[in-house]
Amino acid sequence: MIIDLPALTPVERQAYLNASIAPRPICFASTIDTEGQVNLSPFSFFNLFSTTPPILIFAPNRRVRDNTTKHSWENVLRIPEVVINIVDYEMVQQVSLSSCDFPREVNEFVKAGFTPEPATLVRPPMVKESKVRIECRVLETKVLGHQGGSGNLVICEALRMHIDPSILDASGKHIDQQRFHLVARLGGDWYSRVGADNLFQVEKPNTKLGIGMDALPAPIRQSRILTGNHLGQLANVHEQPTVDPAFDDARLKQIFQYYAVNPEEMERELHLYAVSLLDAGRVNEAWQVLLALN
Ligand SMILES: Cc1cc2nc3c(=O)[nH]c(=O)nc-3n(C[C@H](O)[C@H](O)[C@H](O)COP(=O)(O)O)c2cc1C
Repeated sequence: MIIDLPALTPVERQAYLNASIAPRPICFASTIDTEGQVNLSPFSFFNLFSTTPPILIFAPNRRVRDNTTKHSWENVLRIPEVVINIVDYEMVQQVSLSSCDFPREVNEFVKAGFTPEPATLVRPPMVKESKVRIECRVLETKVLGHQGGSGNLVICEALRMHIDPSILDASGKHIDQQRFHLVARLGGDWYSRVGADNLFQVEKPNTKLGIGMDALPAPIRQSRILTGNHLGQLANVHEQPTVDPAFDDARLKQIFQYYAVNPEEMERELHLYAVSLLDAGRVNEAWQVLLALN
């Protein structure tokens, strides 16, 4: 299916884009107006764009429905300060409740049942229940259009973070990603929750160059068993591995014995064995198994 975005209605466009540019982290923004009236609203058009200086951007956009602007946007134009509270699973239903279009005079802390805690550098309060709260000053705002759905960017400098000790690792210094049940927004009513059961690690390739897919031997590259992910792991090694005579593996020997008369079956078994090693993160051993055929 091919979608030409300019031809769609704003609602249709939003549906395709929100479902694809996902999952998006959620900024739960606390802002204040000139009368001191507090506003609290979630925004998933949000991300980190720079660490030096630390820049976060979120977008309280024009309503698709009636092209009006949001209180959060009006607030930051007047008082350029915001607390960005990060949303985790324990607070997600209340966060959603706070996104109702309550009138300006209504404080969403009260409506959604959150506890305001004074910030230390800016006027809007922090959300006590949020496990990471970031005090920010608004550096710049940028209007991207004037129609329903048009973006209003709030470019913030993050000044101070407050981190709940319950999400720290044993050293007490770093955030333990498995303990922080971050929530993200996808398309429609879908959300995702980060947890130990759905996290995985991918080794960073940026310290040394990987050999690349094009450097993989043809029988490996053209395997019908190894997937793109497996080939990606193999091609991420810094140097093309060579047969290691010291590699002594019982399963490998077994495969050679069993399938000696059938080279096709043997290749299949070796590739299956390599898959199991790669899935366990044992890339060097997988290479040895795959090289054993040549
Ligand atoms: C999880 C979540 C994410 C949202 N993300 C956005 C967003 O990125 N931009 C936006 O304009 N509205 C977004 N909304 C809708 C706003 O939160 C809603 O319009 C907002 O509460 C308006 O409040 P205000 O007028 O008090 O600022 C989101 C709603 C939810 C529940």
